[in-house]
Amino acid sequence: MNYSIETNPLATLKSDCFIVGIYSNQQFTSAAQTLDAATNGLISSIVKRGDIAGKLNDTLLLNVIPNSDIERILLVGLGEQKPLSAKNYRKALTATINVVKKLKVNSIVVALTDCDVEKTDLTLKTRQIVEVFEDAIYQFTECKSKPADEITLKNIVITTTDFIAATTGLAQGLAIAEGVTLAKYLSDLPANICTPTFLAHQALVLAGNFDTIETTILEVADMEKLGMGSLLAVARGSREPAKLISIEYRGGDKNSKPIVFVGKGLTFDSGGISLKSGAGMDEMKYDMCGGAAVLGTLQAAAQLNLPLNIVGLIPATENMPDGQACKPGDVLTSMSGKTIEVLNTDAEGRLILCDTLTYAKRFQPEVVIDLATLTGAVLVALGRVPSGLLGNDDALCNELCAASETSNDSVWRLPLWEEYQEQLKSNFADLANIGGKDAGTITAACFLANFAEDFRWAHLDIAGTAWRTGSAKGATGRPVPLLTQYLLNRAHA
Ligand code: BES
Ligand code: MN
Ligand code: ZN
Repeated sequence: MNYSIETNPLATLKSDCFIVGIYSNQQFTSAAQTLDAATNGLISSIVKRGDIAGKLNDTLLLNVIPNSDIERILLVGLGEQKPLSAKNYRKALTATINVVKKLKVNSIVVALTDCDVEKTDLTLKTRQIVEVFEDAIYQFTECKSKPADEITLKNIVITTTDFIAATTGLAQGLAIAEGVTLAKYLSDLPANICTPTFLAHQALVLAGNFDTIETTILEVADMEKLGMGSLLAVARGSREPAKLISIEYRGGDKNSKPIVFVGKGLTFDSGGISLKSGAGMDEMKYDMCGGAAVLGTLQAAAQLNLPLNIVGLIPATENMPDGQACKPGDVLTSMSGKTIEVLNTDAEGRLILCDTLTYAKRFQPEVVIDLATLTGAVLVALGRVPSGLLGNDDALCNELCAASETSNDSVWRLPLWEEYQEQLKSNFADLANIGGKDAGTITAACFLANFAEDFRWAHLDIAGTAWRTGSAKGATGRPVPLLTQYLLNRAHA
C-alpha cells in the first residue's frame, strides 16, 4: 500500500473516496463540515434523516454524490463529541478499513486526524491509521492454490495540518506495520515450511536488506562447543537441525551496550515424549512467534534507523518425540553449568531459552528481554488480552508497561517472588523444569530467572497474545508494536 501525507484543503483533493468522521447528536468534525459545504449540505440532510447515528463503529457509504465531482464519501461514526479513547479511535479505524477494503476503489483520502484522541498526538494518530489499516489488509494466501479476493485499494492519502508530525507518524506506522506483517507471515507459515533452517534464512535475508544488520547462525556443532546441553537436548528429538540465530543491529554509539531480545523459535511443539493431546496441536506451529517478533522488531528498528545497538537471539528447533529424544527424568547440563531434571519434555521452551540467556551475557547487555509462547497457564491467568510480564528489574518492567500503553499492545505484570522458586526444587539436579500445577506462568519465569542473574531482564509470556484461535485463527504480530515503542522511547531518552 502506498501512503502519503497531504496538507492541502480537503475540497481541493481528488480521490475515489473521502473518509470523514461524524459524532453522534449530528455533530460534525471539521472535515465533515468541509465536505458538507462542498456537497450543498448532503451530509447534513442524510444525518438529519437519521440514516447514520454517528455511534462508534457506524459507517455509511455515500456512493452517488449529486452535482459534484466527488465520487464517494464514507461517513465514520466516532461516538459522542468528546476526546475518543485510543482504543475507540482504533475501533473506528478498523470499521473504516473493513468497509474500504471491499470497495472497488484505487485511492482514498482519510480525513480522520481532526478529532481529539486521549493521550494521542498527531504523530500517534497517523501511526495508528497505518497500523490498523495494514493489520486489516494482511492476508495469508501463501498456501492457497487460488488467489484471494483482490483488494483494489492502492493509494491512501492522510490529511493533516502538520506535515512534519504526520510524516513522522507515517514512518513509524510503516515500520511497525511491516514488522508486524513479517512476524505474522512467518508465524502463519506451517511448520513443514517454517523450519529452523527457514527461520535462519529469513534472518540472513534481513541482514541482506540492511547494512546495519549482521546475522550469524550458530549450528549444532557450535552449540555443542558452547556446552548448550539444555537447548540441544530439546533438538535431539527432531530431524530438523537446530539453529541459534544471532542478529546484530548497530545503529548506536560503538560503545553503547546493546538491548538484547531473545525470542523462542520453537517451529513445532509436539510436546516431545510428553506428547501433547491431538486437539488444537496444529496451533503449536505458532510456538516460534517470539522468534518471529524478534525479526519483526529488528526490521522496524533498522527501518527507523534507531540510534541504538540491538541484538536479537532466536533459538530455533522443533520439539518432537523420537528414539533419540530427551526423556522425562533425564538430567541435562546447561551452558551455565546448572543441571536440570526434565520432568516434562513439553516444558521445552525454558530449556532452549535458558542456554540462550546464558549466551546473551557475552554481549554485555544493557537489558535482556525475552519473548516466548511459554505457558498455557498465562491464558488461564490473563486470557488473550495482555501478554504476561515478569522480570528482575522494576525500572525495566515499568518502561515496558509505559510502552505498552502508548502502543496499544498491552502487558500485565505478575510477581516473580523467591517463594515460587521452591516449586522448582529437584531431588536429582539443581533445578526441575516444571513447578507443578500452580502458578505455571510464574514458575516458568522463575526457571528462566536462574539464568538471568547477571543482567537486567524481563520476560514476556505471549502464549495468549501472539495468535488468535477459532474462526479468525492467525498470528497477531504481537509484541512487535510494544517492543518497537520501547525502542523508540529508549532512542528518545
Ligand atoms: N508452547 C507451549 C505453551 C503453550 C501451550 C502455548 C498452549 C499456547 C498454548 C509450551 O512449550 C508448553 O507446552 N508448556 C507447558 C508447560 C507445562 C508442561 C509445565 C504448558 O503450558 O502446558
Ligand atoms: Mn511445550
Ligand atoms: Zn512450547
